[in-house]
This record gives sequence, structure tokens and C-alpha cells, in this order.
Amino acid sequence: MSDEDVELEARLEEQEVFEPSDAFVEQANVSDAGIYEEFEEEWPECWEGAADLLDWEESYDQVLDDSNPPFYEWFTDGTLNASTNCIDRHLDERGDEAAIEWVGEPVDEDNVTLTYSDLHEKVNEAAAALRDLGVGEDDVVTMYMPMIPELPIAMLACARIGAPHSVVFAGFSADALATRMNSADSEYLVTCDGYYRRGDPLDHLDKANEGLEGVEHDTDTVVVDRLGRNGDDFGHDLADDQHDWGELMADHEGAEVEPVDRDAEDMLFLMYTSGTTGKPKGVKHTTGGYLSWTAWTSQAVLDIKPEDTYFCSADIGWITGHSYIVYGPLALGTTTMMYEGTPDHPDRDRLWEIVEDYGATQLYTAPTAIRAFMKWGEEYPDQHDLSSLRLLGTVGEPINPRAWKWYYKHIGNEECPVVDTWWQTETGGMMVTTLPGVKDMKPGSAGPPLPGLDVQIVDTNGDEVEPGRAGYLTVNKPWPGMLRTLYKNDERFIEEYWAEYSDTDSSDPDDWVYFPEDGAKIDEDGYITVLGRVDDVLNVSGHRLGTMEIESAIVGVEGVAEAAVVGGDHPVKGEAVYAYVIVEDGQEESDEFRAEIVEAVEDAIGPIARPEQVIFTPELPKTRSGKIMRRLLEDIANGEELGNTSTLRNPEIVEDIRQVVQGD
Ligand code: PRX
Repeated sequence: MSDEDVELEARLEEQEVFEPSDAFVEQANVSDAGIYEEFEEEWPECWEGAADLLDWEESYDQVLDDSNPPFYEWFTDGTLNASTNCIDRHLDERGDEAAIEWVGEPVDEDNVTLTYSDLHEKVNEAAAALRDLGVGEDDVVTMYMPMIPELPIAMLACARIGAPHSVVFAGFSADALATRMNSADSEYLVTCDGYYRRGDPLDHLDKANEGLEGVEHDTDTVVVDRLGRNGDDFGHDLADDQHDWGELMADHEGAEVEPVDRDAEDMLFLMYTSGTTGKPKGVKHTTGGYLSWTAWTSQAVLDIKPEDTYFCSADIGWITGHSYIVYGPLALGTTTMMYEGTPDHPDRDRLWEIVEDYGATQLYTAPTAIRAFMKWGEEYPDQHDLSSLRLLGTVGEPINPRAWKWYYKHIGNEECPVVDTWWQTETGGMMVTTLPGVKDMKPGSAGPPLPGLDVQIVDTNGDEVEPGRAGYLTVNKPWPGMLRTLYKNDERFIEEYWAEYSDTDSSDPDDWVYFPEDGAKIDEDGYITVLGRVDDVLNVSGHRLGTMEIESAIVGVEGVAEAAVVGGDHPVKGEAVYAYVIVEDGQEESDEFRAEIVEAVEDAIGPIARPEQVIFTPELPKTRSGKIMRRLLEDIANGEELGNTSTLRNPEIVEDIRQVVQGD
């Protein structure tokens, strides 16, 4: 490092507040600080501006119907179609411009540019094909696909014919697919033969087929041929109820499908996410509210303009990809990028190469990726010209100030604002973050709530806590992008998100408070630092996993008597899975058995949930009422001083386990 660099590092280390540059502010979509006050005064009408970013078939009568909380309705009686908004309306001005720039993992492969006209053509053909297979309005179509262009095409085709989609992350297991298809009564599946991972073709259809065996009803499957001849070795034959995507598209070449008018409150999609029980929750998002929310936040926070080439490195199998690769950016008519592979293939500069080649203007990624980039070193981004970047974003987990500053300096060259965006699958889009053209940034803190949102940090009684004190994050007013319910389970919806801080007998919306199950603190300027989940949900590499789901996979293994799963700190993944396991009498505590347990978790959920360590223990620390003290198990995993053990029934076990894990 040169002297100048050392000086710069030292200055960055100290600096706690960063201003956006004048050059950024001058061109920002939102740069008037008055927006906060204005939205507060004009609530809920302030959200008309978000709805105005869309084209409506029938305009709405009412912005918010809050007569039956927490079942809020937004833009009631309005009708629209999401695929029209993401494609058709851009054709006149942007028909020949790229809608999707797709980059495959193999470097020597032809990448795909889909202009808005191409996307229109393909979405129409896919819509016609799906309809021909029998997909009707409101039928849930499951997609179990990696990052290939056919995924957004299929999603938008469903949106066109009013069929909600349910995308299952391709890294999830066969069992996870079956559970979600059964829960959604989904009779249609779109999947593919395989994809590339770190240079090798990976079989995917085999896993999909295994999942289909666990589906309780008849299904039709459409299979995309992603691998061509490279997939021959997998020897796939399509069954009678399986159809080749390419053939279906050819059969419907040139088809045009009239977009179905959907009510604002009609379901656009379902997304399953992890909760505190072993069963994933089907989060329901709607057409009008969700699309307005993702379009508005894409414009205000990501500063997206039609002429941008915007790059979000998330996977479409998670909510970030739905909201900020597909719906938000396409609703604004911009160019959105998709990358199939991992950031370290063929080398650790792959993302920077893509940014340079395509002239990406924004990059939106996860802290876990930033921590990995940081570990690999700045020599990788330094090999590339990243000057096209105008804004950087992070999402999915807390980002530590060091990683934030590394990102700001080495990727953004101290010129790009960094937006640290807090939100969830359930919120549909961003909630707490700086507006980059208005607010200063404070590394480590997501920022203030977006205008029009009422977010508070409260204690267990629901009273606001002092600045600087830890409390629970709550949202005290509804917003258009919010989930409407859990699929076919209104009761669980109330129980999971509202019961904690609401008067559930009241019909007054002021008595209803949304609780996202995150801990947080707020500073004197109203900036919120999110501390992490307060329920039994883990955040591993930005992926949300329920400890109960992992535990039930482990106790399903013959020879396991009991299991407790907790998250331990991890330098790159944020959190890693630690599994404490009690074996049955006669079962050997061997490495083979450990491997069997790891495999069971991979089978039930997927490799993302693979335990970092499986720790055999004769007992688990329990309170006198029999509750497992997870906090102590977390302390052990983190090598920390042990908390209070006096309330335990079996305090001596804690020291025994600690010795096994920490080894002294
Ligand atoms: O704990 C919060 C964390 O991720 C959770 C939501 O996970 P999921 O529904 O999978 O959505 C992830 C993508 C939006 C939250 O409850 N989280 C998300 N963003 C942040 C965060 N924690 C701290 N800072 C963030 N910016």
C-alpha cells in the first residue's frame, strides 16, 4: 500500500457519515428532502405517486381500504396486468432496447440479449403454451429453475394469463419442492434439465422428478433444455406428462395473448419462506400494491432510469430477484441483468468483468458476497474499469461498517452512494434505507424508514425505546407492498405477524402493528441499525432458514433422539448452522453418522442448510420447564463467555458441551 492509501484507509476507518456526491444528487430521481414531510402529511394518498408509475386498465377508486385490519387492500377496484406493465407499454420507446441481458456461467458461451420486443414475443408464446396445457386464471404454476432467461419469461407469461407463480429456489431439495407444490395445490411445474455450476453441468431434472414423486396430485411439467448436448450424459427421457419447452414455444410461434385484467388485489405470486415452525409459509403478494411498491422503490432507492444497465446479483428464486431483477426494473423499462453462475468462476473477478463489459450502472448484492470479495482482495476489482457504476446496494443481512467501507471504496471508488436496504419477503420491497439523493449514509445502519412508513423500535410492551437502546422493529402503518396473507391461512398470518403488538379484537387500524421479528436500535437522527432476527430463523449467506425445518430433518434420521439447531457467527456467511445432536442408545457417534445427518439436511432442504458442525452431546441445556436454552448453545458455537446457567435443570452439561466444541 502507498502512503496515500494508508492515509485514506485511516480516514475511512474513522469516518461515520458519508454524503452523496453532488454529481449523484444532481441527477437523482429523488432529491427533494421535503418528501418525508410531504408523505407524512398526505398519507395514504402519497402512494398515488407509486401507482402512477404503472399503467392501469381501470383506475382505482380508493388508495387504501383499511376497514378490516390487518387485511388491508390497496388501490381497490383498479385493474391492471403486470406483464403489460413490464413489457407492452415499453414497446414503442424501448422495443429495440435490451430488457434482459443474460450472462451464462461458461465464459465461451453465447450470452443472450432479450430486447423488449423479444421479451414480448417470448412471453406471449409461453403464455399461449401454458394456457394450452390447461393453465387457467388463478392456477398456481410452480417454477423450479436456476438463473436462466426462461425463468422471468415464464413468470411474466403467468402474469399475462393471471396465473400466480410460485418460484422455488433451484438449490432447494426435491422434498422442499414437493412440500411447496402440495401446499399450493400447484398442478403445473416449469423446470429445466440442468445448469452450470463452477464449470460443470449439473443435473436438475433428476431432483425435480424426485420431488414430483412426492406431489399428491397429477401434474404437468414443462422442461427447458438448458444444457443441450452437455446434458446428454444425464440420460433424461421426458414422461407423458412432461413437455419440452422448446417444442411448446415452436408450436405457439407468433402467438399473441391478450393480457388478462387483474384486480389490484388479485394474487401476482406466492413465495414460500421460512418461519419458526417446520412448515414454510406461503407469502401472498398482489398485482397492484406489490408492483407499485417495487416500481417506486426501484426508482427512488436504486435510482433506476430506463437508460440504465442495472445489475442485481441475487437469485430470482428469492424475493430480491422477484422484486429487483424482474418486476421493479422491468416496470420502469430499464435493462436488467441476470448472471447464471457464481462470482468466482472462472476467476474471482467474474462480477467485475461483467460490470465492465456491460457498463453496469448499479450493483445490488448481499453482504455475504461483499465479505467474500473483501477476503479475496481488491486486486480482483482493480483489474477492471468499474467507472460505469453510479450506485451500490446491499440487502439480506446486516453489513458491518468495514465491509460497507470496502464496498464503497473498492467497488464504488468513493463516488457511488451505498444503500443498505432492510426489508423481507413479506414486505415485498424495501422499507428502511437512505434515499440516496437525499440522505447521508452511516455505515452499519440501514437508515431511516422510507417516506410514508411508520417504523418504530419498541420494548416488549410496545413502547418506543430510547435512541441507542436495543428493541424490536415494528411497522405501525400499512404500505402497498405488504403481504396480504399467508396462502390459505389467515389465522397463521395474524398469529405470526400481528398478534405480538396488536389488539387483535379491534377493527381500528391504529391498534394493528406489524412485527417482522427483527431486533433493532435507532439513533438520535432516526437511523435504524437492524440487529438480526429475534425468532428461530437463521440468516445463512443471506438465505433465510428455519431452525425447526433443519431440526425436523435431523430427528428424521434413524438413530437420532433429539436435536437443536442454532446459528453461530461466520466471517463470510454471517451465520452458520450448528447442530447439537443426541443419539439413541446403541447408535455410534461416528463421522459416518455425522455425514448421514448432513446428508439428511441437504435432502430435506438443500446444500444451503448444510450444518457447519454436528456436535454430539449426551444432553441439551434445558430450563426446568423443558425448554432448550438456545442462547447458551449459540454462545458455545461463537466461543463466547457463557451466559447465565442458573435457571437450567442441567447446568453441568453446558461446560461439557463447551469443552467438546471449544476444545479446552
Ligand atoms: O433479518 C432481516 C434480514 O433478512 C430478513 C428477511 O429475509 P428474507 O425474507 O429472506 O428477505 C431477504 C431479502 C429482503 C429480515 O427479517 N435483513 C434483510 N435485509 C437486511 C436484513 N438485516 C439487516 N440489514 C438489512 N439490510
